[in-house]
Amino acid sequence: MNRILLTATWNFGRLAVERAFNMLELGASALDALETGINAVEMDESVQSVGYGGLPNRAGYVELDAAIMDARGHRSGAVAALRGFRRPISVARRVMEVLPHALLVGEGAAEFAREQGFEEEETLSPEASEQWLQWRETQAPPADVEDSHDTVGMIIWTPDTIVVGCSTSGLKWKYPGRVGDSPIVGAGLYADEEVGAAVATGNGDEISRVALCSRVVFLMERGMSAQEACDEAIRYLMRKRTDSSGTPPHAAVLAVRADGSFGVSASYAKFPYALHDGQSLTMGEREALEPE
Ligand code: GLY
Repeated sequence: MNRILLTATWNFGRLAVERAFNMLELGASALDALETGINAVEMDESVQSVGYGGLPNRAGYVELDAAIMDARGHRSGAVAALRGFRRPISVARRVMEVLPHALLVGEGAAEFAREQGFEEEETLSPEASEQWLQWRETQAPPADVEDSHDTVGMIIWTPDTIVVGCSTSGLKWKYPGRVGDSPIVGAGLYADEEVGAAVATGNGDEISRVALCSRVVFLMERGMSAQEACDEAIRYLMRKRTDSSGTPPHAAVLAVRADGSFGVSASYAKFPYALHDGQSLTMGEREALEPE
């Protein structure tokens, strides 16, 4: 196969990359491959931070966020706080292709999904419901906050295409209506045909506050390598948002430059990601950046 690069966040990124690569081998477009790869994670009930099986908000219902961006033409579409549809990345893609808008939220997003013929389904899995019932007893803030916002984010690069997408159920037990970084262009994802693309995972409130992915792409535009740009953007987040106890926000970012070079950085240890160079798939693990 011609030169390609696929990368995706977390251990479940392997599933996304495998499915996307299979599609590319069959001759699918990069956008179709990206959607299929992310759909696979959305439909995996065992992944409790994405799509069906995702943990609900504090009121007990699942609200999903997703976005997609095609660097060519700088096109994007997104949905936020979407209820009742298991594959929000597909709805986001339809927003990009059908509407003049960049983002639909809540009931408007659901109405659009219905209009477009997406099947309305239960998004709260029995396991997620059980965990919510247990949480409701104590209403304790999530102790393992770093495990509760694992977005699937993926970039596919070919010499003439860069596409990026992400999908998440967001922070578990979040306030209803809370929207994280994933459906926000510039925060959870960004792509520029002449420069490259970035996608983020981690604490979406903090990632949004520093517009993390637009910063990565901007730094690449100013001449940094993908790796330097990821490191510098994560350092910026840590500098601006580390709390008074010295704990930085949890965030990680993947980037691919327009020349096909790759970067990854994280504010916390052992961030796993999948990388496929067209020949083989490897799982990488990024150590945390040291605070400055
Ligand atoms: N990064 C996903 C979220 O916090 O919503």
